[in-house]
Amino acid sequence: MSRALTVSRAAQLVGVSRAVLQRMIRAGELAQFDGLVEIDELLRAFPLANVEDSGLLEKVARIREESFGRRVREHVLPSPEILSQRLFAQSQELAEVRRHLQAYHSLVAATIERLNVRPAPAGLADEARNMLERGLARVLGSESDNRLDAMTDMLKLVYANVVVRPSGHEFLVQGNDSILQAGLKAGLGLNYGCAGGNCGLCKARVVSGETRRVLHADYSLSEAERAQGYVLLCAHTALGDLVIETLEAGSPADIPQQELVARVRAIRPLGPNTLLLHLQAPRSARLRFLAGQGATLGMAHNGGDLQATWPIASCPCDDRNLHFHVARDPGDALAEHLFSGAVRVGESLNVRGPSGDFVLGTEVPPRVAFLACDTGFGPVKSLIEHAMAAETVERFALYWLASREDGHYLANQCEAWADAFDEFGYFAASDDDPARGAALVAKRALDDGDPAASRYFVAGPQAFVDGAMRRLRDAGVPAQALRAAVC
Ligand code: FES
Repeated sequence: MSRALTVSRAAQLVGVSRAVLQRMIRAGELAQFDGLVEIDELLRAFPLANVEDSGLLEKVARIREESFGRRVREHVLPSPEILSQRLFAQSQELAEVRRHLQAYHSLVAATIERLNVRPAPAGLADEARNMLERGLARVLGSESDNRLDAMTDMLKLVYANVVVRPSGHEFLVQGNDSILQAGLKAGLGLNYGCAGGNCGLCKARVVSGETRRVLHADYSLSEAERAQGYVLLCAHTALGDLVIETLEAGSPADIPQQELVARVRAIRPLGPNTLLLHLQAPRSARLRFLAGQGATLGMAHNGGDLQATWPIASCPCDDRNLHFHVARDPGDALAEHLFSGAVRVGESLNVRGPSGDFVLGTEVPPRVAFLACDTGFGPVKSLIEHAMAAETVERFALYWLASREDGHYLANQCEAWADAFDEFGYFAASDDDPARGAALVAKRALDDGDPAASRYFVAGPQAFVDGAMRRLRDAGVPAQALRAAVC
């Protein structure tokens, strides 16, 4: 029996998403036992040559960096202390394996010798000897397995694997990331509040494995909680593979309303009529939200209060940096104020939220199609980045209609995703009539995949949303497979 790996680690080793391995497991193309995949089985499905030559590992790492910004690029390697702890654990494991191997080897050699000395009954001794000799030769000659084993050990040094109960979700902890940061980057809806060791909302029970504190926490756990193995996920990292017990948010109702003050980090044009507003929340008060949700922003101006609710265009995996794609709109006083150039970097805005149910949800179908028009791309971008991080969607595609002169203002990013992810498709269309364009992109989305196995997310101006939803419903897509956001 060869070594067994978690699905996350196996996916990383062969450079495909977890969704791909899970589809193969469901289709019976890859065997899984107790949630683990054996290396032999992985090699059968992905011959080693393919793994080494494909460059897929590099490709996935590169797109992650490009997609999720500087915070994710930092701290790729764990600290020397964590590395040495993991090395020590691996050395112990290796010593134990060596001891077992030596014992089995001695046993086989002694059995062969004994069969040579007393070869009775006839026939059986020869058969047994041949069998043992063949078995030994196989062990000594299984070079491919050894190389994959070595790659697995290397990955184990750099990443710790965390399994969450009762959901069964799993993710890898990279560098010195806290368990919470790593879980959010992987697209999980882990419970938390401040992310800074103050509120206690991220406490979770460690069922097995060791953790190490990486952040000072003012919140203190009770003696009883400590004795039961509770830790603060925002203040601890994983020393090795972990199993933890905690609840996750699956729907907008699981996330409390929050209020915080964030500062303008940047305002820059994405087109003549579109701005990128980048807000940064304080370290100790971030906005917890699900991909696709929005927030209400407010700021004082001329003795009044300007307010607007806009979709968040960034991934919840980076909850401190909130992006909004703001369209010029004479009916939106806050948008006009931003376009006037009067708001400077460093100014404060009140943030309240999250709001909306334009979210992926826990039961994700094999295929997701995102239909966006103009700045409807904002919430869709958040969903796509989340889908890439969570690796739960097998195939997904973006159909982006441009109806204004700003065009596809982040086309390069969409093309980079399409280049880097085989499972992602990108279709761009232009039409100055959003209703007519809606029919075009909806038809293309319907033609591209089985509507019965798909979910459709539609975001943009009212005319676009109405047109696309009508077309999808007419094609027989059930209401529960449709989500819409007017923006
Ligand atoms: S999230 Fe507040 S203590 Fe961890």
